[in-house]
Parts: sequence; structure tokens; C-alpha cells
Amino acid sequence: MSAMLKLICHARPGRKRAREPARMEMVCLLRDFDAAAASGGPLSEESGVFWVDLREPALAEAQRLFPRLGYTSAIDLPLVTRGAALRHTRRVRWRKRNYELHRLYEEREDDYRSQAPDRSEFLFVDADGTTRLIRGYRGNDRPGSRRGLSVCDARLLVNLVSPPGGQGRLIDPFAGAGGIVRHALAAGFETYSSDVDPALSPGLTHLGSEHRVADARELPFPTEFFDAIATEPPYDHAQGSAATRSVAELARVLKPGGRTSMLCATWQAREVLPAAEELGLRILLCSPIDRKGLACTVIVWEKPVRPPRTTYPQIDLIR
Ligand SMILES: C[S@@+](CC[C@H](N)C(=O)[O-])C[C@H]1O[C@@H](n2cnc3c(N)ncnc32)[C@H](O)[C@@H]1O
Repeated sequence: MSAMLKLICHARPGRKRAREPARMEMVCLLRDFDAAAASGGPLSEESGVFWVDLREPALAEAQRLFPRLGYTSAIDLPLVTRGAALRHTRRVRWRKRNYELHRLYEEREDDYRSQAPDRSEFLFVDADGTTRLIRGYRGNDRPGSRRGLSVCDARLLVNLVSPPGGQGRLIDPFAGAGGIVRHALAAGFETYSSDVDPALSPGLTHLGSEHRVADARELPFPTEFFDAIATEPPYDHAQGSAATRSVAELARVLKPGGRTSMLCATWQAREVLPAAEELGLRILLCSPIDRKGLACTVIVWEKPVRPPRTTYPQIDLIR
């Protein structure tokens, strides 16, 4: 039996209160390694700390995935110690034992900043029909056209729907300036996008996604085509219930066993949740996130796998 390691995970500044989504992101990203959320561990007095258990043989593979994390910016490994502390090694006491903390992962600030929407370039068709390469494109003030999801939120939404094997077809049906698309591509997904605004088409295609101009309520894709969906619909009330009315279509194009993550305004979540429940989607996560004073909610659903069909004709049972 291999040893179980307890990872001490630190949620990023600005998302310290979002420990539940952070923990689920980590468990989903490490899905192939049977990582499990743990209820306690060292450093519980620090804000934004949570724990994930992982079997020792999986550590090296898991470490390769840590730079993809959105809501976790550092990870420590506590190891029991009896001797004197090494220089530069932090020590903690937990359940009457001393531990040395070994830093397994720390996000590189410059890497993270270089991926931010204000540093990224995007091909956009402007009002006179000219296609321009714009740095820091964030949309405009028209209803529904504020774009440019932050790096940590885009990574979170992609990681939350990571299928077994970590790959497959993923779509963002409200793709905007491609925040989610960039991270899905970087994570190795076969990435699709759609958005109702045709001005975004060159940019989303240029990023490398298979793009369609389409309304999320009527997607031009076959039933059960996608392994995963990650999205952020428009938040403003002027868009009405675009998010709610898209849920049936998202459920149609998702494979059984596939997952959908959605970051929406909390007022939208109140409408979207009952609609999804009626469609038989299973809620795995529903958690508030404060995005600079904007009340948001992150939701993850799973589409249940259908019961297996009988392989013999019913008539044989009747005879
Ligand atoms: C909040 S933005 C998405 C931002 C994106 N996550 C990003 O990182 O840039 C919402 C997008 O939904 C699009 N949209 C609005 N209504 C839509 C609909 N009914 N179907 C598809 N896209 C829609 C808008 O054009 C906008 O680009």
C-alpha cells in the first residue's frame, strides 16, 4: 500500500474565500490520480488554506499539472520531522507532531501576468468592417459585450470539467474574447467555440478553436458531441435569461458523464439551477464567488449516464 500525502494548498489572494471551488478544481484536475479532498490539516489558522490527499506514486505526474491551476497559487508538502529544522525550512506543529513544509509549487507571477487579458492580443472586426489585432481587448459598453475573463477564472472553469484522461472535446458557447478557449487549448483539449457576435469570429479562429457564429440556444453541433463545456454567459439584465434558455441546448450537446461549468451572476444562478434540475443534470458544485464586489456563482453539472439498454428484443420476454 503506497503512502498517502497531504497537500497543503493555498488559494490565491483575491480568491481566498473561494476555498470550495478551489478544492474541487484541484480534485478534478487530479481526477486520474484519485486525489481526494481532506477535511483537515496543518496551517488551518491561515486564510485560504485547504487540503487534498494524494498517493505518493502520483506526485510527480500531479506536479506537472499544478501550473494549470487557477485558484491555487502555492502548494506545500508537510513531512514529519524529529531533528533540528533545516535553515530556510518552515516548521509547523499539527496533532502533536512536528512537520517541515516543503514547497512543491508556487505560481510564477510573470507567467500569470503574461496571460492576462490586458496583455493578450485578439483579432477583432471593428465597426467599419476592418479586422484589427488589438492588445488588451475587453469588449465595449454595449449590453452583453463586456469580455475578457481573468486568467484564474478561465483556468478554474476548464479544470472543473476535466474528463477522465484529461482530454476530449470542449466547447465555450459564449466564447467572447476567448479567455476560456486559450486555457482549454493550453490544457490540450480539442477546443470548440461559438458566440452570437460575428466580430469575434477571426479572433476565436486565430486562437486555434473550431469556431462557429451561433446562438447558444441553437448550437450547430450534433447531440452528445462534447466531453466538456466551460462557459461564462453575459451577466447584464438586458440579456434577459440567455443563460437559462441555453441550458437545454448545453445538455443536448454534452455526452452522458460529461460535465459543464458555468460562471454567472448570482441572480442568473437562481434561474439556471431549476432549469438544469428539470433537465436531470446533477449538481456537483454551486458556490458563491466575489469578483471585485460582483456577486457571482460558479456551478458544475454532470449529465447522468443512461442506464444500459437491453440487447434482446422485448418480444422474447413476452413469449
Ligand atoms: C461575458 S462574455 C464571455 C467572455 C469570455 N468568457 C471571455 O473570456 O472573453 C459573454 C459573450 O456572450 C455572447 N452572447 C450573448 N448572448 C449570446 C447568445 N444568445 N448566444 C451566444 N453568445 C451570446 C456575447 O457576444 C459575449 O461575447
